[in-house]
Amino acid sequence: MTSFDCKNKFKPLTEGTYIKNAEEYKRLYKQSIEDPNAFWYEKAQEFLTWDKSFTTISSGTLKQGNVKYFEDGYLNVYQNCVLRHKEKKPNDVALIYEADDPEDARTITWLELSEQVQLYARVLKHLGVKKGDVVTIYMSTSPEAVYAMLACSYVGAIHSVIFGGFSSAAVRARVLDSKSEVIFTQNLTKRRGKLVPMKTTIDQAVEGIDFVRSVLVDEHVCNLKDQYEMRSNRDIYLKHFVSEFQKGGKYENENADMQPMSMNAEDPLFLLYTSGSTGKPKALIHTTGGYLLNAALTHKTVFDIREGDRYGCMADLGWITGHTYIVYAPLINGTTTVLFESTPDYPSITRYWDVIDKWGLTQFYTSPTAVRFVMTYGTEPLEKFSLKSLRVIGSVGEPIGVEAWNWYFKNVGKSKCYLVDTYWMTESGAIMISAIPGVTTLKRGSATLPLFGINPQLLVKNGGSKNIEMSMQKKKKQFLEIAENSQSGILTIKGHWPSITRTILGNHKRYLDTYLNPYPGYFLTGDSAYRDMDGFYFIKGRIDDVLNVSAHRFGTSELESALTLHPNTIEVAVVGMPHKIKGEAIFVFCVLKNKQVEENKIKNELKLLLQKTISKVATPEHIVVVESLPKTRSGKIMRRILKKIVTKNYEISTYGDLSTLLNPDSVKQIVSNVKKLF
Ligand code: PRX
Repeated sequence: MTSFDCKNKFKPLTEGTYIKNAEEYKRLYKQSIEDPNAFWYEKAQEFLTWDKSFTTISSGTLKQGNVKYFEDGYLNVYQNCVLRHKEKKPNDVALIYEADDPEDARTITWLELSEQVQLYARVLKHLGVKKGDVVTIYMSTSPEAVYAMLACSYVGAIHSVIFGGFSSAAVRARVLDSKSEVIFTQNLTKRRGKLVPMKTTIDQAVEGIDFVRSVLVDEHVCNLKDQYEMRSNRDIYLKHFVSEFQKGGKYENENADMQPMSMNAEDPLFLLYTSGSTGKPKALIHTTGGYLLNAALTHKTVFDIREGDRYGCMADLGWITGHTYIVYAPLINGTTTVLFESTPDYPSITRYWDVIDKWGLTQFYTSPTAVRFVMTYGTEPLEKFSLKSLRVIGSVGEPIGVEAWNWYFKNVGKSKCYLVDTYWMTESGAIMISAIPGVTTLKRGSATLPLFGINPQLLVKNGGSKNIEMSMQKKKKQFLEIAENSQSGILTIKGHWPSITRTILGNHKRYLDTYLNPYPGYFLTGDSAYRDMDGFYFIKGRIDDVLNVSAHRFGTSELESALTLHPNTIEVAVVGMPHKIKGEAIFVFCVLKNKQVEENKIKNELKLLLQKTISKVATPEHIVVVESLPKTRSGKIMRRILKKIVTKNYEISTYGDLSTLLNPDSVKQIVSNVKKLF
């Protein structure tokens, strides 16, 4: 691992960064771990405006799973994210909407944002949405989705944003689980110039769910009424309805002076579904005070945010990156933020570079998958772009690896921008490990050092066994913290921090069992990591049955249960295989009931099934039909072996002891079938 101190090459940080130098980082970091209450007290005053100040900073423990921050404090999201900036700079740009079609791009000022959020909030109020209700948002990355998100907290509701690429079955499961009665959607959206039928998907998703009483439809793509249906008594055209609350409208005076809801710091702000290693996707809950504070602090620290910056995160609003680093953190910090609705190659492979130069972006944040994708086109597409406005470039979602790191740093950052590899997860709410511009020595492939309040600890099984997977599976095993550097272990976080997810909707036990009970006092991330001799972290990847495909998370069990819905599958096993662009790709093994069918036909059906029940991102790379899957005598599929095979290791003698298998012969046949693919 090459150390890479490139401080001198960087653009001069003449105005000074938020964290000034390594000494300041060390001092504040030490305080955040040793005297967290003093640290967070100060930051809570600095970043947030409180309606009623708090007297308690934090309470509860990870062991008990009852962590709280600022529990008697009150604040409102609208004031923090919108109002205070509107008052200061009403005509400055708050949102830059870079639509799928670049011609449709537009900007929204703080004043316009405040007006729209208030109108949307009055619509929700009119529909009877109350504090604590869950409102679903199934929309593209667009200003209307942001208005809807902020309008929820205005009336005290909890939003549940569902990724616009999810299928009707995936949406249905989430609506049922969250019992969401009101849904925001769009008639259609455009993705790479093609129409995506959002409203029709919602109709299929909520068919027969009686508690869904209002579907608010934004006419995102105009004049195509024949492409979808509107159901009377349930469906409402959003823009028209909103206009009824404006001057001259039917509801002009209704709640015209409605004030934003003052929320307790521990009130849920949103829930967001994510995949785990077992069971159905779970709704993680994030709170109002602690989440917003750490979102804002990490954003300012990691992206070197300054007044007047134009910050662009290319994620989709439907993921935690969209929630924290497109919406909440930039808005709290009063930063212009980009809503990027398209893809890096539409209308051409220069789209990212167009966006950076067109808007003069100062920060650019994307995933390694996207970097690897644009990399395949070489450097020629970048030649006519200066990209000179950039100061910081960021990466998130999966390990970036040295090759992509170098390419990104050299060709996008022009060897002058800080490259921050940010490690975090839906559960953490905000970045946990990342370099800080002007402060941290960069190392290629390393997320570097922990941010404030994050105390990472690598654990190994007592006795020093290197078999991390085994110790993950056997909960409550004896374990040891790794004291020395230059070792690998299970990555945990000791103690809590303000933006840690507080629970899983309706299933606190699952929350405790997944994250807190395996190693009492520690939060289990599900990743393993290496800490080098300087204490820098290198994230190695998941150690549980979670796949990370193009920075999208899927549980193997979730994919397998979808595949077993096919009438001709008896058994399936899904494993991740390394993939040049996606990082990890889905590899399916299946055993069929009726073997007299055409294999290609069934493979296509299985592909469609995953697309239909989960999402297009879940399309498998390979499907292999086998006679049987390797199983232990207790009936457990030996994924360890399948994982070796998909990495093209065909040496059966290196697979370890196979004598415990119920059907050792299956391995040979699987190897031979997989070999035929490559
Ligand atoms: O495995 C880690 C990987 O993404 C997982 C979290 O996924 P999700 O909750 O969807 O959130 C993604 C966006 C924050 C982690 O458990 N991951 C995330 N960032 C990195 C990473 N792996 C390596 N390096 C990163 N920078």
